[in-house]
Amino acid sequence: MFSSYSSLSLLVLLSIASSSDVLASPHPEGGRTINVLRRSREPWSPEDFRARLEGVHAKYGMKSPFTKRSSGTNLLTNLQYDSSYFGSIAVGTPPVSYNVILDTGSSDLWLAASESAARGSDIKTFDSSSSSTFKELNTPFSITYGSGSAKGTLGSDNVQWAGFEVIGQVFGLVTTASSGLLSAPLSGLMGLAFQSIAASGATPLWQTLAQTSGTLDSPLMAFQLTRFQNDTTAKNLEPGGSVTIGATDSTLYTGDIDFQSIPNGAPGYWIQSVTGLTVNGQSLSVPTGNSAWAAIDTGTTGIGAPASVVTQIYSQIPNSAAGTGQYQGYYIIPCSTSASVTFNFGGSSNSWSIAPADFILQQSSATECIGAFFEVDNSGAGNLTPSWIVGDSFLKNVYSVFRQDPAAVGFANLSAKANAMSGTDGTVPSPTIASFPSTVTATGSVVVATGTANSNGGISAFARSAGFGWILCIVASVFAGLFL
Ligand SMILES: *[C@@H]1O[C@H](CO)[C@@H](O)[C@H](O)[C@H]1NC(C)=O
Ligand SMILES: *[C@@H]1O[C@H](CO)[C@@H](O)[C@H](O)[C@H]1NC(C)=O
Repeated sequence: MFSSYSSLSLLVLLSIASSSDVLASPHPEGGRTINVLRRSREPWSPEDFRARLEGVHAKYGMKSPFTKRSSGTNLLTNLQYDSSYFGSIAVGTPPVSYNVILDTGSSDLWLAASESAARGSDIKTFDSSSSSTFKELNTPFSITYGSGSAKGTLGSDNVQWAGFEVIGQVFGLVTTASSGLLSAPLSGLMGLAFQSIAASGATPLWQTLAQTSGTLDSPLMAFQLTRFQNDTTAKNLEPGGSVTIGATDSTLYTGDIDFQSIPNGAPGYWIQSVTGLTVNGQSLSVPTGNSAWAAIDTGTTGIGAPASVVTQIYSQIPNSAAGTGQYQGYYIIPCSTSASVTFNFGGSSNSWSIAPADFILQQSSATECIGAFFEVDNSGAGNLTPSWIVGDSFLKNVYSVFRQDPAAVGFANLSAKANAMSGTDGTVPSPTIASFPSTVTATGSVVVATGTANSNGGISAFARSAGFGWILCIVASVFAGLFL
């Protein structure tokens, strides 16, 4: 189940019309002027013109002239001083927009369902009965993250994101979620890792787009995340940066993007090997082999690391102490701490720095703060589970690129323009529904309703309180989803 998925053949179904008619060329009727319009057929509707032009292109294997989008951008919102970042999707017919956490640490899409307890709260829920394209799949759905879980059933519907639309995307309609996992203005979560770790078994929307030839300019996604955590005037919602699918945005980074391959045999997270770590200039010893694997995870607020590394990190920080009780797994540090941390990934000589501001996760008392690095215990979770979860405390400092083929993660320095968005108060983006999204059909359909829990332990990360931020890295694969 951990092998990278490749076998489904994908179809772009833009050519609704299979008609092979070519556009008729005008044939002047000869010497006489006639005012009568030709009546040999029913006049074409505007849709017919489009369908026939697409039909011609499809017949000759040409890309539809209506497929104008080959990359698209979704503007993000920064929620609660860098706790999490969300974007928007539009679901159903007619399309309705929802705010969803964009999470590279998991692979399922789900929305709070109108049947759930969330009904009547200020959470905007998905009402399947008001979409003409919704299909019930009568299959249970359940997923567990480092900081909570969600349960419900699976359905499918058309989903738009960043100017693209996937027809028949399978997603979870969640009726139960652990407290703290979801609150307004969020309605759910969209996982942006690979299908092989999807609890639903469904191919994630981004992956369908990346694998459908002719859809994206490049099979990748690129994130820029803003920082507001150290800005005492920041509001609960601030501009969060952006994610671009199909291309990188050269105005947001400088220099080269340093791509490092996803290690062979790695599970379906965006894995990078941590091959170097310094704190205040001191090199620490980091585990090697599979134990160096880190999930690069936009859905996790801080940075999870093996306990042996966390101990070394805080031994460099004067007056730091291991947390107890609710703070177990975290460290308490003076808020005046100014530590500089660098990471190396995949053996690259490029090292990436974390701004001192990001060494702090949040303030816990007048003078005490919680450090961004926390312990991850993946013992008993199988040697394919990542030992590190590298979240937003790191990702705010780089332009990060998630490339499907060849599978790699790339980092680049942020441009001055990107850096200037951090700490600059602004209008948060409002969802847009594309009037003419590029359309792709989802692959496969879920057939299992009887999957048994594949309980392989999973990562335990310490997040007993929602106030500690999100840890949205899927913990254990739940259902063995089968695909046609
Ligand atoms: C990123 O910026 C730092 C600081 O200016 C510089 O030392 C480093 O070489 C840059 N890295 C890349 C890959 O361009
Ligand atoms: C927040 O942190 C960043 C990075 O360390 C720094 O450049 C910026 O000046 C800080 N902003 C405030 C308001 O302290």
